[in-house]
Amino acid sequence: MTAVFSRITGTGHFLPPRRVTNAELTEILARDGIETSDEWIRSRSGISARHYAEASVGSSDLALIAAQRAITAAGLEPNDIDLLIVATSTPDMVFPSTACILQRKLGITNGSAALDVQAVCTGFVYALSVADNALRSGQARRALVIGAEVFSRILDFKDRGTCVLFGDGAGALVLEASDQAGILSTKLHADGRHTEILCVPGNVNGGVVSGSAFLHMDGQAVFKLAVQVLEKVANEALAAAAVPASAIDWLIPHQANIRIMQATCKKLGLPIERMIVTVDQHGNTSAASIPMALDVGVRDGRIKPGELVMLEGVGGGFTWGAALLRM
Ligand SMILES: CC(C)(COP(=O)(O)OP(=O)(O)OC[C@H]1O[C@@H](n2cnc3c(N)ncnc32)[C@H](O)[C@@H]1OP(=O)(O)O)[C@@H](O)C(=O)NCCC(=O)NCCS
Repeated sequence: MTAVFSRITGTGHFLPPRRVTNAELTEILARDGIETSDEWIRSRSGISARHYAEASVGSSDLALIAAQRAITAAGLEPNDIDLLIVATSTPDMVFPSTACILQRKLGITNGSAALDVQAVCTGFVYALSVADNALRSGQARRALVIGAEVFSRILDFKDRGTCVLFGDGAGALVLEASDQAGILSTKLHADGRHTEILCVPGNVNGGVVSGSAFLHMDGQAVFKLAVQVLEKVANEALAAAAVPASAIDWLIPHQANIRIMQATCKKLGLPIERMIVTVDQHGNTSAASIPMALDVGVRDGRIKPGELVMLEGVGGGFTWGAALLRM
């Protein structure tokens, strides 16, 4: 039978070993006279801890371990992969893509396509949609889709409004062409009029970084937009698959802030227990947050084969998107 769908056959994630609690971060910031507290961070964001990669470790290194875990879970070898997509806003280099660097580290020598997708915290949903379309059109048969970030590199530790919120990590999944419906629908959006509310405005110019290479965010503007668009795009993905919200077994929103996540869950009329939450332990890992949360839910046995999962991303750009899938 002709494969007309794509479905997930393996997941994996990796967190760098250094775990930084709110108490430790409070001490680090205090050395520069910056005040914060575990209470403030937890009550405003739901975050208790995040992980930071060592200075020598790049997004491709985190992605490598997450990818190996996903490939093993799918029962494949690296050279079985014929499309590799990495969603990242913290690439190893300006170019080549982190996907090409990862392809080399994985030992993939079959000449398959490799590319990065840049849609900040929506990056993974964008990457999944691109891979799904490539598989359904017959352009590829086995895709590796990854979100990998070292956001600790772009944090201004003098800006307490942002530096407490983000962390590092990588999540991966293998998507294979199938005659069974896995990815049921994807919906992607962007509105470039909101570029300034969440950005790293610097660029490389004449051999130096021109402008700020730190993350800048208008937290309240991001909060308001995020709550609006997450509900809307989830309903678009449900409508495209002709599925009611009540059929969702697991909601996996981008893990940015527990208050945004809870508001989204409530607007969809879902009980809070049906949402996978990792933001408390991972912080906001941008494009890595959704695939890491998915793998956590799969490996601890909550997400089971056949269940309906809604993934939702939102972030810089402004970008947002959703993917409805059957495991
Ligand atoms: C960032 C965020 C947590 C800030 O919460 P908030 O309730 O909006 O807080 P405000 O920015 O209004 O700041 C309130 C006060 O806390 C202070 N504050 C900010 N960061 C602080 C910190 N880490 N510790 C202690 N106090 C802090 C502010 O200086 C301000 O003090 P002031 O009233 O004396 O000026 C919230 O806006 C948010 O979650 N936004 C969305 C962020 C997000 O999800 N981004 C990623 C999307 S992909």
